[in-house]
Amino acid sequence: MIMILLLLQIVLCITIVYCDTTDVKVNSVNLISDMVSFYRTYLTAAHGEKYRDMIDSDGYLNIMSLHDSDSKCGPMCKEFIIRKLGDGKGYDFFEKMLTEIYGNAISLDPFEPQEVHLALTPTPDAMKVMWVTMSKLLKPFTEYKLVSDGDDKDWTVATAIDYTYDVPKKWWATFTGLIYETDMTGLIPGANYKYRVGGYDVVNATMRYSKEFNFKAAPISNNANQEVTFGYMADHGTFELLGFATIDKMVKVYKELSIDLIHVAGDLSYAGLDSEFKPLNISKDDEFEHIWDLLFIQNEPIAANMPWMINIGNHEAFYNFTAQSARYKMPQNNLGSTGNFWFSYDYGNVHTISLSSQHSLDAGSPQIDFLIKDLEAATANRATVPWIVVGFHKPLYCSVEGSPHFADQLEAILIQYDVDLTITGHMHAYERIHPLENGIVTVYPTMNQDGIDVYYSQGKGPVHIMQGHAGAMQEEKFLQPQPDWSAFRMADGFVFHNKTSDSKFERLSKLKKYKDIRDSGTYDYKDTYGFGVATFANSTHMFYKTVPVTDSDLGVDTFAIIKRV
Ligand SMILES: [Fe+2]
Ligand SMILES: [Fe+2]
Repeated sequence: MIMILLLLQIVLCITIVYCDTTDVKVNSVNLISDMVSFYRTYLTAAHGEKYRDMIDSDGYLNIMSLHDSDSKCGPMCKEFIIRKLGDGKGYDFFEKMLTEIYGNAISLDPFEPQEVHLALTPTPDAMKVMWVTMSKLLKPFTEYKLVSDGDDKDWTVATAIDYTYDVPKKWWATFTGLIYETDMTGLIPGANYKYRVGGYDVVNATMRYSKEFNFKAAPISNNANQEVTFGYMADHGTFELLGFATIDKMVKVYKELSIDLIHVAGDLSYAGLDSEFKPLNISKDDEFEHIWDLLFIQNEPIAANMPWMINIGNHEAFYNFTAQSARYKMPQNNLGSTGNFWFSYDYGNVHTISLSSQHSLDAGSPQIDFLIKDLEAATANRATVPWIVVGFHKPLYCSVEGSPHFADQLEAILIQYDVDLTITGHMHAYERIHPLENGIVTVYPTMNQDGIDVYYSQGKGPVHIMQGHAGAMQEEKFLQPQPDWSAFRMADGFVFHNKTSDSKFERLSKLKKYKDIRDSGTYDYKDTYGFGVATFANSTHMFYKTVPVTDSDLGVDTFAIIKRV
């Protein structure tokens, strides 16, 4: 039997010319147990022997602070964690909880293609696909065909390239896998395709394939009235705290909401180690690469089925942006876009510009030069692509205490070119901000018969959406009273309104203490986590709403932008 198998392997080897096994080694990686072991070592050394066998809510918080030293967790957040984790559990429980979060999506098979995700390319007839294996597949490829093609129709095969990336090796597990990338070309714009990725597993002498996924090729941007729907989010992450819940909700609703693609406005994984601990040689510049893998495994049910576009945020900056540069490949144009830092893309009737809050925005800087050139080109094309959206990680305006304020660098340009909408994040909350200039509102919405705020904002500056509520721990305090420019804000399970207002929406006005709120039976910390959905219905109408991870309507904000014609 063994002889037969060996013979078969040789035949395959000769037939498919996969004979070079010299650089193929089997990488045994267990993302969950490596992670538990890493945190256990850290907690025991940094926070005491009590964490040798048990993890409690404070330990869980210490793990999150390790990844995001700015994050805060007050009584409501902690209450939530205690309910979720229990207080004082063994690491086996922690491991079980993480396994439940990621389900059976993680394969321990090092040749299994995982972390599949799509991205737009500069042309609608091509779609980029990327994936990961922990051990090298030879002759990697993507196979794709129209959904309408029958089984007897051959797949189109596109050859992939593979590469890896290195980060400084310390005592914890790092990334030892391969990243694969290929463009599926010759697509019919707007058509529905199915695809799978794969390659040759020389150790087991077999071809390996991923699951089959579906996607819709990007439409040609030649029709200002072609409806497209974007999903927007920021400050996502995985188990820190609810990034997985956001994806779970998306999986439930993306078909019903007809979401075409996702744009994440930075702080993607929180893989970075944002706190220093010298006894274990942990610096604020280190990163735990397994979190990236878990993020992509978590995101795959959405990201393998539609383009997944990004901004970089401050939590992507580790090792000079090494991981994010290797793991995402955003489309580039000839107007000065660079890497994933700043670039733009058309999708249907929307032109999106993705900028970096981590690079210079000074007049004459490469990024600002790109922005102006790109806006000039988008303006010239506005008859067919009427909507312009700018994604940027840090807010131009935000009424969360301690928020950065990037209006001075960007506002004048965005108003000059009549950008319709900005999507930002960074503060772990949601806020809608009226169009404004120098802090003065330029146009307030009018409420339509359905109770929805409608902005007739053409020429008045963008509506700003601070969408940082997709997963990272929330414990934000809002400035009081609510600024005139702040339309809707929520975090920590509350919708916050002006303390001086007796707004009928002031849900918690009668509940003064956390205990009262907790015992009221109406409070859910998760209500203010979620994402946004924007439907650009035609050349003049855009509808937007937030989708909470819960079924509550508390965390729902809706508005519309109507261009005057
Ligand atoms: Fe963040
Ligand atoms: Fe951030």
